[in-house]
Amino acid sequence: MTTGSTVTVGITPIAWTGGRLRLLDQTRLPGEQVWLEFDDYREVAAAIREMRVRGAPAIGVAAAYGMSLAARQSRATDMPALLHDLDVAMETLGATRPTAVNLFWALRRMRAVAESATMTEDARARLHVEAIAIHAQDVAGNRQMGQFGATLIPDGAAILTHCNAGALATGGYGSALGVIRAAHGAGNNVRVYADETRPLLQGARLTAWELVHDGIPTTLIADTMAGSLMRRGLITCALVGADRIAANGDVANKIGTYQVAVLAHENGLPFYVAAPTSTFDLSLPTGDDIPIEERAGDEVTHFAGVRTAPVGIMVANHAFDVTPAMYVTAIITERGIAYPPYSTSLAKLVEG
Ligand code: MRU
Repeated sequence: MTTGSTVTVGITPIAWTGGRLRLLDQTRLPGEQVWLEFDDYREVAAAIREMRVRGAPAIGVAAAYGMSLAARQSRATDMPALLHDLDVAMETLGATRPTAVNLFWALRRMRAVAESATMTEDARARLHVEAIAIHAQDVAGNRQMGQFGATLIPDGAAILTHCNAGALATGGYGSALGVIRAAHGAGNNVRVYADETRPLLQGARLTAWELVHDGIPTTLIADTMAGSLMRRGLITCALVGADRIAANGDVANKIGTYQVAVLAHENGLPFYVAAPTSTFDLSLPTGDDIPIEERAGDEVTHFAGVRTAPVGIMVANHAFDVTPAMYVTAIITERGIAYPPYSTSLAKLVEG
């Protein structure tokens, strides 16, 4: 991995140029825009684990490029040997973050493409084309999702969002922030309240950065203010992304999303989820079966590298929670909007 600074590609967290994968290091935002370059899939896996690239769809896109790199790194001259090397890469990339199902979706899609080839050079070429297709389809899907979702946002809406489901969390444009971008672009006087999103501050660092960049009126709030603002009538709906959606419509997303959903329900406000169908996991009947990532305690005991809790304290650091489907007003996808009962509407969207 090498480091270089550039701002030439705007808000796109992932690029393939000059035969190398480039990732905008999200741990350095908003202070610095640093691009990292990769030609080794193991370093891509480390970047996913360290959240240099993060957000469910972006993790899937990065992993797809990682598989393409793995094929290039492999010295295999026959297909069984190449498939073996790809399986090793799949295991390494798949062991990074357990909750975002887009990761496993992309890895499976790449494996299937490799299997369809008979010659190793053909497989390498196809894997590269497939990674680029996964990336491009994600951006196109986000734009489509934006068009569908914007129909749910009345003029002058005040939208609460949690974490970052923007261009940075996807191949580009964004899911929840894509809906906001589409509404804003259509002339809607939309306003945003961005939860800071403790402990890693994706809202304060990333969502705020994106929306300031786009000139969309945005107010940053401490996570704990959301309920009070809703009660005072300052918020008209909540809109978030997702890391995995079970067959019954239960939604896993950044820790704290469940609280937002319950508060929205309590205050009679719609709670929308925007996510591509690659975030669906219809093999899981309910959200109870979604694996929830637990991360290192120092993300909670420290703030910006400074210890803020005593040595010896026990820490829980669940990176995601599950919002029961009963709190979800609608799920916006690139194929249309799903409404309850999700056990039938999600399956219908997937079947087309
Ligand atoms: O831990 P992160 O930053 O990867 O979590 C990201 C989220 O929870 C996003 O809301 C989700 O991945 C949707 S991104 C379009």
